[in-house]
Amino acid sequence: GHPHVAQRDGQLHVEGVSLEALAREHGTPLFVYSKQWMLDALAAYQRGFAGRNALVCYAMKANSSLGVLRVFAEAGCGFDLVSGGELSRALAVGADPAKIIFSGVGKTRAEMRQGLEANIGCFNVESEAELDVLNDVALSMGKRAPISLRINPNVDPKTHPYISTGLKGNKFGIAHDHAAAAYRHAASLPGLEVVGVDCHIGSQITDASPYLDAMDRILDLVETVERDGIRLHHIDFGGGLGINYQGDTPPAADALWKQLLARVDARGFGDRKFIIEPGRSLVGNAGVCVTEVIYTKPGEDKNFCIIDAAMNDLPRPAMYQAFHAIVPVHERSTDATIYDVVGPVCESGDWLGRDRALAVEAGDLLAVLSAGAYCMSMASNYNTRGRAAEVLVSGDSAKLIRRRESVEDQLISEKI
Ligand code: LLP
Repeated sequence: GHPHVAQRDGQLHVEGVSLEALAREHGTPLFVYSKQWMLDALAAYQRGFAGRNALVCYAMKANSSLGVLRVFAEAGCGFDLVSGGELSRALAVGADPAKIIFSGVGKTRAEMRQGLEANIGCFNVESEAELDVLNDVALSMGKRAPISLRINPNVDPKTHPYISTGLKGNKFGIAHDHAAAAYRHAASLPGLEVVGVDCHIGSQITDASPYLDAMDRILDLVETVERDGIRLHHIDFGGGLGINYQGDTPPAADALWKQLLARVDARGFGDRKFIIEPGRSLVGNAGVCVTEVIYTKPGEDKNFCIIDAAMNDLPRPAMYQAFHAIVPVHERSTDATIYDVVGPVCESGDWLGRDRALAVEAGDLLAVLSAGAYCMSMASNYNTRGRAAEVLVSGDSAKLIRRRESVEDQLISEKI
């Protein structure tokens, strides 16, 4: 899954840049991203949409660092965002507002105003109550808000329960059975302009079948809604395509879309605009987190390898029992020991890897792989730990895109 992370001359590189050199210059923990991996991942979607009216809106919650957003803005992507804060980030990198999609179940009036002021392309509305409030806000500004309804297709994406979103019991979207009525209501509101339909069934999906089922369900709805005289100009199919963390084999983006578009064409909807909101699959395997071993600690039941990255930097193992491969930056020829790889945070849940065979000593560097998505963007200051620095690599050049957060940065917003 990491074609741009490789051992060369006995040490690990991201593209042409040595991780040891970066760690020496910027310290650890340090996130390092390959620009080429991101562009290759984007190209796979673009191949899938060749000859179509399509827009890739990068789901910036996966990694919202400005240096990463700029890569996608320059490549012509739009952005899928979920807060006023994310909107500010997108605008800060020069995103085209017409290519911005605003998702999320809890948009506030202030966030709606911010989106309307920026003239964003579409609000993905997730409830009838939100329709009425958005109508109200738009009318008060003398505007019409472009909307699509996020429909819950009720399919099981077969992923972790915390990241499956399209089932009946989820808080997301409008129930499929209720969707036609919600569209009629939306079309009757003068502050709204219905432009499309939206769905998102979950994340880290590694099987094509839930996608195919969801597409069938959405196309059924397009048919019903258009019979009511409401034209749906775009079909936003959400994000969710998985990546390889541990031998996972998700379908390739281009192959998946070939299959999906065949269904769309067969139903006669091939002339629509297609929007997608991928996050993880555009950045996940572009990134690694370089960390230093602080101590090794033999125990009675377990041996611990204590590193300087922790659950506040990389919360996915603690939150979802997620697997991230962990590899040495320099291979040692000594025998491996089985370790739990843990951080310095005062919680038993603060582990990054369990039962890993590693030949390491204090002072060695390790790389936690698949760390481009939902790591830095979910980082916290727990234990008053500053957030890590980030570097973007392109070929032989490396740019610091976020300096390490200092304790002063953390204290500045507080008062005694
Ligand atoms: N669109 C919507 C409406 C979403 O809710 C999400 C993700 C995406 C797009 C992007 O999904 P992706 O292509 O990245 O799978 N923190 C979790 C993942 C949460 C995903 C939330 N929604 C993790 O670390 O696995």
